[in-house]
Amino acid sequence: MTIPGNAVLVCFILCTYALQITCQETSRLKGDIIRVEIASVGHIYPDSLGCLPYVGPPQDIALDMIQRKYEGVFNFSLQYIFDRRIKSCNELGDNAVNLLAPWLFKPRNAKIVRALISPSCTDAETFSLNQLASEHNLLMITSINNQNVIRNKKLSPTLVSVSHYSDGAYFDFYRAIVTTYKWLSVFLLIDDSTMPQYYVIVSRTVVQSLSTIINQTVTVRHLKRSQPIQYQEALREFQSVSRVLLFFGQAEHARSLLIHAVSLNMTDGEYVYITTETFVYPLLFGKLDWRYGDENDKVARDAFESLLVIRPVDFNETLPPGGAMNPAEISQRALSNYNFSLLLTEQPSLNLIAAYLSVEMFAQVLNESFVKYGSSSLTDGRHLAGMFIDKTFDTFVGKIAIDGFGQRTVDFMLSGFDATNTTFTPFLFMNTKTGKTQVLKDFSWTKGKTWPPRNEPKCGFSGDSWDCRTTTNTLLSGSLTAILIMALLALFALIYCYRSHYLAEKAYFNHILWRLDEVLLLPAQQTVSHGDT
Ligand SMILES: *[C@@H]1O[C@H](CO)[C@@H](O)[C@H](O)[C@H]1NC(C)=O
Ligand SMILES: *[C@@H]1O[C@H](CO)[C@@H](O)[C@H](O)[C@H]1NC(C)=O
Ligand SMILES: *[C@@H]1O[C@H](CO)[C@@H](O)[C@H](O)[C@H]1NC(C)=O
Ligand SMILES: *[C@@H]1O[C@H](CO)[C@@H](O)[C@H](O)[C@H]1NC(C)=O
Ligand SMILES: *[C@@H]1O[C@H](CO)[C@@H](O)[C@H](O)[C@H]1NC(C)=O
Ligand SMILES: *[C@@H]1O[C@H](CO)[C@@H](O)[C@H](O)[C@H]1NC(C)=O
Ligand SMILES: *[C@@H]1O[C@H](CO)[C@@H](O)[C@H](O)[C@H]1NC(C)=O
Repeated sequence: MTIPGNAVLVCFILCTYALQITCQETSRLKGDIIRVEIASVGHIYPDSLGCLPYVGPPQDIALDMIQRKYEGVFNFSLQYIFDRRIKSCNELGDNAVNLLAPWLFKPRNAKIVRALISPSCTDAETFSLNQLASEHNLLMITSINNQNVIRNKKLSPTLVSVSHYSDGAYFDFYRAIVTTYKWLSVFLLIDDSTMPQYYVIVSRTVVQSLSTIINQTVTVRHLKRSQPIQYQEALREFQSVSRVLLFFGQAEHARSLLIHAVSLNMTDGEYVYITTETFVYPLLFGKLDWRYGDENDKVARDAFESLLVIRPVDFNETLPPGGAMNPAEISQRALSNYNFSLLLTEQPSLNLIAAYLSVEMFAQVLNESFVKYGSSSLTDGRHLAGMFIDKTFDTFVGKIAIDGFGQRTVDFMLSGFDATNTTFTPFLFMNTKTGKTQVLKDFSWTKGKTWPPRNEPKCGFSGDSWDCRTTTNTLLSGSLTAILIMALLALFALIYCYRSHYLAEKAYFNHILWRLDEVLLLPAQQTVSHGDT
């Protein structure tokens, strides 16, 4: 069988045409897929929980997930931006803007959607990147650091934080506790001796929060890096001005403080000690336990009854078993991508969870905005950041809420030491979104004393206020009258002396033509200040 020549030609033309159409079709389809470029600034030296070897793997796992979930709609890519010479969070803070700039200014198709999703490990980094993101209307999401500049929407119109550290929750909860129990004088003790940044940030927030309460007295003291640490000195000062001590420092220092308090009789139920813990991570925050296997265990156990602890409800959250975000997968990726052995038994999984959430929630917002407002809405960082505000997201760890400032809300609880099973049990809960507190159970305070202890003991902080002297009223008023009479007599005598002296002097000065002010006779040196000695 032979095929005529022009039939072959016609077939060829038709085939080419068909191929062309198919090509055009696929390229049109491809054009419909929205390209999304995510930049993640960080450093790869594993000195902190905010570095890429920790947060990179969960971000990558989340990226794989959203790539599958939104296939055909979005095509995501995530670029890590780092410099091997940068070895610490502080150096990164100084260089973050320079690192991001080439990515930011790279010429690209205007339709490409961009966002900055970084752990951010210092305030300085958040601050500088936020400024850049805001100038360029670029959505920025942080997963580790949360700087309170986020509350200023003029300065941070595109900033969102899914960090587990919820500044607003600490602000509200400390305020709620102090007002609920009517503690008008509190003493803040900030431990400078071994200080994760967390304590500095929380104590700063608490000072701000308490200063919004009318008639509140706040005394702030730092425990210096001296050896030995001056606990007794701090406790004596506390005793003279307050009965409620808010402690910001590592768990073992809280324990030492309480052991010293026992020796000063300051654990009798008149004094309250409140510490805080953001998540269980002994390497950084210490172990909040009376059992250290030393000679002080028994004393500490007793003293812990005077200690309360403020914690987020999910402070001991673990990674959900099964699913893509499992410990084995994270470790494997950390090793293959960063040559880093990530020991998950020692990891605060809350940070890993937050890194995953930053990517997962970003994709949800992108999809929703695309469906509701079309593709042009996706290049507007302000608009995207606005879509996080006051919203609750369904995520792989359940519902996650974002507040009116664009930061994650975390519910809090206050726990007391349960003497029967010697663990901390929550008794007061705050729903951060509504700001309402709820009593979970009756709390029995140490040594059978009534809860809550008074802000100030009946006889004042030093034990000798006027109220307490009324018992010796008659005696006191008797001697008071005597003192008064004597004072009056002395006054009359004085007036008499003065009058006679004055008259004599007046007579004398009548004969003098001038008088110098004594100030004029003093040397000019007098203005030297009486400052530091
Ligand atoms: C996604 O984009 C990359 C380039 O960034 C491209 O190589 C890849 O083929 C794209 N994937 C799809 C499914 O379009
Ligand atoms: C604050 O203190 C003053 C003076 O002691 C008192 O008159 C006032 O009622 C107090 N205000 C509040 C809100 O407690
Ligand atoms: C502590 O209180 C007990 C009894 O309440 C008393 O015997 C002891 O002297 C007190 N110690 C100090 C240091 O005040
Ligand atoms: C935290 O959780 C782990 C594992 O679930 C448990 O062994 C540990 O005792 C918990 N720690 C605290 C302080 O609750
Ligand atoms: C990976 O780390 C180990 C030590 O932790 C080192 O000996 C090895 O050279 C590293 N491998 C690469 C490819 O950098
Ligand atoms: C994208 O958003 C729309 C509207 O909210 C929703 O119906 C759809 O399920 C979302 N897509 C995915 C993959 O979740
Ligand atoms: C300890 O006991 C209290 C009640 O006395 C209980 O509410 C709490 O759940 C117990 N905690 C543990 C860890 O068993």
